[in-house]
Amino acid sequence: MGKFMVKGMEGGLRGRVQISGAKNAALPILAACLLTEECCEIRNVPPLSDVRHMVTLLRELGAKVDFCEEEERVLVQAEAIGQTESREEAAQKMRASFLVAGALLGRCGQARLPLPGGCQIGSRPIDLHLKGFQAMGVKNKQEHGFVELSAKTLKGGEIYLDFPSVGATENVMLAATLAKGRTVIQNAAAEPEICDLADFLRELGADITGDGTDTITITGVKKLCGASHAVIPDRIEAGTFMAAAAITGGDILLENAREEHLKPVIAKLAECNVKTELTAEGLRVYRKGKLHPIQLKTMPYPGFPTDMQAQFMSLMTMAKGTSVITETVFENRFLHAGDLQRMGADIKIDSRSAVIEGVEEMTGAKVRATDLRAGAALILSALAAKGDTEISDIYHIERGYYQIDEKLRRLGADIRRESE
Ligand code: EPZ
Repeated sequence: MGKFMVKGMEGGLRGRVQISGAKNAALPILAACLLTEECCEIRNVPPLSDVRHMVTLLRELGAKVDFCEEEERVLVQAEAIGQTESREEAAQKMRASFLVAGALLGRCGQARLPLPGGCQIGSRPIDLHLKGFQAMGVKNKQEHGFVELSAKTLKGGEIYLDFPSVGATENVMLAATLAKGRTVIQNAAAEPEICDLADFLRELGADITGDGTDTITITGVKKLCGASHAVIPDRIEAGTFMAAAAITGGDILLENAREEHLKPVIAKLAECNVKTELTAEGLRVYRKGKLHPIQLKTMPYPGFPTDMQAQFMSLMTMAKGTSVITETVFENRFLHAGDLQRMGADIKIDSRSAVIEGVEEMTGAKVRATDLRAGAALILSALAAKGDTEISDIYHIERGYYQIDEKLRRLGADIRRESE
């Protein structure tokens, strides 16, 4: 177990940072490789613990997988699916393992997987995934912490998602590529990661239209081929570095960030008095004057991403005036507020809303990461605080940020990793 030791900065972050491939695009795309017996090459895959768990899971199901971490490239060939059941520790450890359900249903018509547990930010149910599968003729049985899925014939269906769930949209897309007939997903998620998965599935030969809108149509095909695909850059890692430049009053250049995936973040940064500029070399982010307080509400894409809420709460603790953040996507995603208060923040939580009064100064303290993005928020506040901060349980952070300490050091931060 590790911890980060962070020294508060005098000046701001300065320099260039390379944004890694998106974890939340790589995971469903790796699961999709189970749909074909041909070889797939997935590039720009960050060597994160979540990705390693998915690789372990694919191997357990019978796929040959070669993960060349230095080149951030994964070769997958699922010539035959050895088994459609996972008991693997990995499947328990990572909720996104449930994304193999759709691929196994598409390829084999059955799956038996551990029920993905809840986590700190919410109960994380799978009822919408099961509703989608049910509309395709899949029976499900839940017992002993496992869910068994089976379909005599996997057929296309009409599905309305009560909430535009990213995972449920992805799981249904995966199953529908090889189902008999047409599947229509209404109120589908429209995140860039959905479009990246659809691009990959089309490269495999799937018939998919409407991704990026609230209605996705998939017409099943008989067989899929192999493909080579580069995962999109991680918009949440990019947004996190943008917030880090903002909170420290810095000036950084994000190489290979996709501005079109960052519109809500760019818009809210502009309201905070943080400038962004698309240059030939990348996206420049810098702050000249004081941070302004804002009103922020997390929404499904293209609304403001819930995965950037914690980072913006850190930012708002330093903005003179009153900011209000409303978290509409997850029911318990303010866990970082407690640790920010220990660093001097003035935050009042009332159910899904947080009222933040900007303070003159935050001070370093011993804090603990509770989830991926909360941990990132603590790093941001530590960079802007006076004195030293010790962040423990950084395994949460390293699940989703590849070499974040190294990247920050290159931008002038004093952050180092120590064993707990
Ligand atoms: C994905 O999780 C991301 N994870 C999350 O990123 C992200 O926060 C989330 O989408 C929202 O954008 C991956 O892609 C691996 P959802 P997912 O299904 O698919 C409710 C990070 O920090 N819901 O869109 O699990 C659910 O309770 C992680 O990288 C149901 O009610 O999110 C939640 O309130 C954290 N029933 C809301 O939908 C269901 O069957 C959004 O969940 C499914 C979801």
